[in-house]
Amino acid sequence: KNYDFGLVGLGVMGRNFILNVADNNFKAYGYDLDQEKVDALKTEGGNLEKVDASSDITTFINALSAPRKIMLLVPAGKIVDQVIESLLPHLDQGDIIIDGGNSFFTDTDRREAYLKEKGINFFGAGVSGGAEGARKGPSIMPGGDAEAYTHIKPIFEAVAAKFKGEPCVAHLGPKSAGNYVKMVHNGIEYGMMQLTSEIYDLLKKSLGLSNDELHQIFDRWNKDRLQSFLVEITAEIFAQKDDLGDGDLVDMILDKAKQKGTGKWTSQNAMDLGIPVPTIDVAVSMREISALKEERIVADKLYSRPEPQEIDKDKLIAMAEKSLYFSFIAAYAQGLHQLADASKEYEYDLDMSVIAKIWRAGCIIRSGLLDAISEAYITDKSLPNLLLAPAFVPKVQETMASVRETVAYAAMSGIPVPGLSASLNYFEAYTSSHLPLNLIQAQRDNFGSHTYERIDREGIFHTEWGK
Ligand code: 6PG
Repeated sequence: KNYDFGLVGLGVMGRNFILNVADNNFKAYGYDLDQEKVDALKTEGGNLEKVDASSDITTFINALSAPRKIMLLVPAGKIVDQVIESLLPHLDQGDIIIDGGNSFFTDTDRREAYLKEKGINFFGAGVSGGAEGARKGPSIMPGGDAEAYTHIKPIFEAVAAKFKGEPCVAHLGPKSAGNYVKMVHNGIEYGMMQLTSEIYDLLKKSLGLSNDELHQIFDRWNKDRLQSFLVEITAEIFAQKDDLGDGDLVDMILDKAKQKGTGKWTSQNAMDLGIPVPTIDVAVSMREISALKEERIVADKLYSRPEPQEIDKDKLIAMAEKSLYFSFIAAYAQGLHQLADASKEYEYDLDMSVIAKIWRAGCIIRSGLLDAISEAYITDKSLPNLLLAPAFVPKVQETMASVRETVAYAAMSGIPVPGLSASLNYFEAYTSSHLPLNLIQAQRDNFGSHTYERIDREGIFHTEWGK
């Protein structure tokens, strides 16, 4: 009974995470029903003296020291419930289960309440960074009982990615706070991926840039204020040759994007909360439109589109850089706005500066911007929206003429930039003291007697229109 940490689910993520734990000198024991996966762990390399695994649940349970800390890295959904049920008869009061998958936050709340009755602490802990992150240092977003967290804290702080020595993990709040934050992280991820792909499309279609030139541009951007994991891997992708042919791999990949649902959940829940996240909404819609490949091919033949307009190469590249920078800020602003509102609605008591901090390394949306974002929330804990942060006003202002020109140029050239345009129009609307929604109120009252408020006096009004 001397293993510090248990891990259920020895797929790629699980194997990498447990080896990371062992590398950090904690004794870790893995469990998977599949003996092949158990065996695979022992061939992976790493600190094998500190790690062992079994396909026998009793052996696994008996190996763990009290209170047991058992992390699940299994697919979200019913499997999580099944694993919990299989563990339960073997557990003792005070043991801790941590779900490291992308579980839906209400499932986490249900499981937490159910297990609390049995004296078991349950954590939903989003883990970001893919397989490499799990092995070398992910960003971890745990939520659950603050007291019980003290048992997991040293392990998580050791295995998490570090930003200037600070671990990218923190206890974010009670119940499903961690899963919720990870869900919104993924919504922002969808937005940033969509924006990057639009900039790629724009540069390629209008300037006819080669993959090599695109590689150079993204690589240069990644060394400057656009420094981010997604820009970095985009540069890498353009340099990848195709193993199965002569060309570049990116050109051989089918343009139909798949999704597991976390981006969609972010949009759906933002709608429920009444918080606008149009950049994320559009990113989900674009994956859906991309899936309609066969219909797109038919439609493409039915309509003509303009040729991309003539434009100076360096000018468009500079416009694209500013547009990407602005729209990354817009994506973060929307996601963080949603988190701030969800924090009140679900009583998570989130500290937005801490969330921005633990996203600075390890996770998919890490970027050079997050340090400044964290600072903005340190300056004003209850900042409703990043666009209101004084430090961000000049950053955004400086890009806006280019963003407007880029969206106009793309529209005139028949190149779809829905993420960029949604980000721009989100900005235009959010920063307008007057919007034409007075007309909507008039229409609602006209056809449905839904009443309206006035700008010059208090009260609720109704008019017999046309009389
Ligand atoms: C991460 C990612 C990860 C997610 C994939 C795939 O933070 O490491 O968000 O958790 O599962 O990005 O998501 P989709 O299949 O929905 O694109």
